[in-house]
Amino acid sequence: MRSEEIRETFLRYFEERDHVRRPSASLVPSVHDPSVLLTTAGMQPLKPYFLGEEEPPSPRLTTCQRCFRTTDIEEVGNTARHLTFFEMLGNFSFGDYFKHDAIRFGWELSTEGFGFDPDQIWVTVFEGDDELGLGPDTEAIEIWREIGVPEERIVRLPRAENWWQAGPTGPAGPCSEMYLDRGERFGRSEDLPGDDTERFLEYWNHVFMTYELHEDGSLTDLPSRNIDTGLGLERMAAIKQDVPSVYETDLFRPLVELAEELSGRSYGDDGKGTRAMRIIADHTRGTANLIADGVVPSNEDRGYILRRIMRRAIQQGRVLGLEPPYLGRFAERVIEDMGGVYPHLVEHRDTILRWVSDEEESFGRTLARGT
Ligand code: SER
Repeated sequence: MRSEEIRETFLRYFEERDHVRRPSASLVPSVHDPSVLLTTAGMQPLKPYFLGEEEPPSPRLTTCQRCFRTTDIEEVGNTARHLTFFEMLGNFSFGDYFKHDAIRFGWELSTEGFGFDPDQIWVTVFEGDDELGLGPDTEAIEIWREIGVPEERIVRLPRAENWWQAGPTGPAGPCSEMYLDRGERFGRSEDLPGDDTERFLEYWNHVFMTYELHEDGSLTDLPSRNIDTGLGLERMAAIKQDVPSVYETDLFRPLVELAEELSGRSYGDDGKGTRAMRIIADHTRGTANLIADGVVPSNEDRGYILRRIMRRAIQQGRVLGLEPPYLGRFAERVIEDMGGVYPHLVEHRDTILRWVSDEEESFGRTLARGT
């Protein structure tokens, strides 16, 4: 299943269930939302609807949102699935359906749409938290039981795993994650979801968005009970394309191939080279998308995030022994690959390439002086 088919399967499934499909919003959050520098989840642009500040265009929406997270930036390249830039598929309900339908949709699409074997699906649920003053999510546990998930595959996890909040304040709630058990050839018999192993791959998070979290840590009820889900496109592509890492999916292959072509080395040959190719692929996707959304490299805030990923990509090009300039070649390939789904990348092609070339030139001078 190509990534394009995964996007379509998801979005069409929810359209057929009365959700309105909306395009990805910008990676730059609205000026009214200072809680994050960049869009970190599909729900971010929809916050005013969850908070009851604005009327949603429909009580049910579905999107494929481009997201950027810096939390794991140092892990990118070292593992099979950490990324900074990624696409998140989601279905959202604003005071319309709640846990019952959300969980049923998640189950049906996983088993019928994506063809997962029900025996390989595990789920996690919120076990409660004293500080938040909340007990276990017995309602979600009961719904998973009704669906037929056996008791041992309903794993209760603490706030650190099964609670979602969008930044330090804002809409929040307990969540329930779906995992695919890839079997013991990927791990040990005692592995469990939540342990961050290769055996259990988390692919879909369901947030039961019920509260607003305030600066003093207190919770108040939102005007309505809502649903926010997130399914990582890249992870689903790795599962459906049966490859060991996201970098071997059709979303990353063209970039990895370009790195192979320019360096004359092969992905997977040696640890350093593989890591470099992964970092270049992830960071150049982020670079092109951030610039297309109006971010420019600078020394503060989101401009600094952009500068940091550009410079990390440039440094990794050196590790591969690439002849500069090369960052523009990767950015061009991102535009080529993603431009069909996100035409604004094509519209901003010249701007993207200009910033990339300027940064590579100035950072190249810094590197030359330094060495
Ligand atoms: N907001 C949740 C997440 O990012 C579900 O979309 O996991």
